[in-house]
Formats: sequence, C-alpha cells, structure tokens
Amino acid sequence: MNIVVLDSETEIATRMTDEIQAVVTRKPEANLGVATGSSPLAVYRELGKRIQVGDLTLAKCQAFALDEYVGLPLGHPESYRQTLLREFVSRTDLNPDSLFTPNPHLEGKTLDEAAAAYDASIKAAGGVDYQILGIGSDGHIAFNEPGGTLDSRTHIGGLTEQTRRDNSRFFENNLDEVPTQCMTQGLGTIMEAAQIGLIAMGSGKAQAVKAMIEGPISPDCPASVLQNHPQVTVFLDRDAASLLG
Ligand code: GLP
Repeated sequence: MNIVVLDSETEIATRMTDEIQAVVTRKPEANLGVATGSSPLAVYRELGKRIQVGDLTLAKCQAFALDEYVGLPLGHPESYRQTLLREFVSRTDLNPDSLFTPNPHLEGKTLDEAAAAYDASIKAAGGVDYQILGIGSDGHIAFNEPGGTLDSRTHIGGLTEQTRRDNSRFFENNLDEVPTQCMTQGLGTIMEAAQIGLIAMGSGKAQAVKAMIEGPISPDCPASVLQNHPQVTVFLDRDAASLLG
C-alpha cells in the first residue's frame, strides 16, 4: 500500500484528483468508482474546478457507485443515487445517464437479483479503472461491515449500529430514520478495480486506519483486504494517521 500523509483536506483532494486526472487523460472513457460520505466531497469539487477551466473532461466517462441504502423511497434526498447526482455529477460534465448505482427498486427483480445484475453491469462495462473509497470508523468499505467474507460480490447487507449512528447526521440525527439494510459492492467486486484511492481524515478514523494498514488481513477489518491490492494509495490527514507505528 502506498501511504500518503498530508496536512489538509485540500492537499488530499488535490493529490487524489491528480491520480484521477492521470487515469482519464490516458483513457477518456474510463470507468470511475464513486463513493458517498464526507471524505470524497473535496475531490468532487476539485474535479469540477478542473473541468471548468478546461483541464479535464469526464464527458466520456461512466461512474459506478459503491453502495445504496435499501428501504428509502425512490428519489429520497439521502439515497446514495441522489447524493451522488447532487455532490458529484452536478459539479462535473459527466452525463447523468452515465451514473450507475445499485438499484433496490428494479422492477421484476428480487433484491438479490438486482444486486447480481449490478455486479454484472460493472464487469460488462469493462470494470472500474479508478475507485474512490472512504472508510467507516469500524473499518468498513462501501457498506461491507466487519464479519463478512473477503471475496464477496454485490449483495444485500445489514448496517451495524455504529455505522447507522455515524450516518445519522444525514438524517437529522434521528437514528430511526437511518435504514438498517443496504445493497453494496462486495469486497471481491471492489478488489477488481484497476486502481484504488482511499481517503481517511480525522481521529475518529485512526483506529480503523491502523487496523487496515498494520493489522492482519481479516473480516474484522474489511478494509484490510486492500493490503492484497497491487495499486492502492491511502491518503490520510495527520489525525487519521496518528496511531500508525
Ligand atoms: C458510508 C459509506 C462509505 C463511506 C463511509 C465513510 O458508510 N457507505 O462508502 O466510506 O460512510 O464516510 P465518511 O467519508 O463520511 O466518513
């Protein structure tokens, strides 16, 4: 793993956006893997800036989301589809039709069938060229919570109490409003991305970051599977890196 410790969110966003720009320059029709949460927001803003000044275009790209809540009504503002349209697509020149998200509302399909169809659609598109990741305070990536298998495919999963509490800030701090289920790319799916960049900021992530980088590769810390990936950069601020030996 390539570990990069930087002083600010702005520097982290600049460095990750440099990596994404290099991928898209080499392959204008690249498939980007996009994440929700606070960690990638500055990257989406930086991509928007570079597009505005003409340094970059995502016009030929496609984007694939990591995960989605199950149990929110279609079009709910905190669904990951709406979040990505708002925070990512609207800031860039990506065609909104080129954003693909796991779809729990797929007509005529069970949730398991919809999950399998999403997994297959990523493969059919040629796979993800650059995957943006955050990490949960319990070490989850996408919504792969501790205790799953390290080679899972896109599936329906449950959310831990800790993850629901962490995410309740998007639901007016009302835990009851936070879904208990999700549809998420599996760890096996994520590991097929050609290149991965993960952002972690703040002391709340320090324990998970230590387990991801220095711990054993174990379902107890799902992000630790990234130790097996050949091209992953972990971008940390000083607080997130504070427990590293
Ligand atoms: C959610 C998402 C993850 C994200 C994590 C961390 O649970 N499903 O993809 O990485 O939160 O979010 P944040 O970046 O807001 O800390």
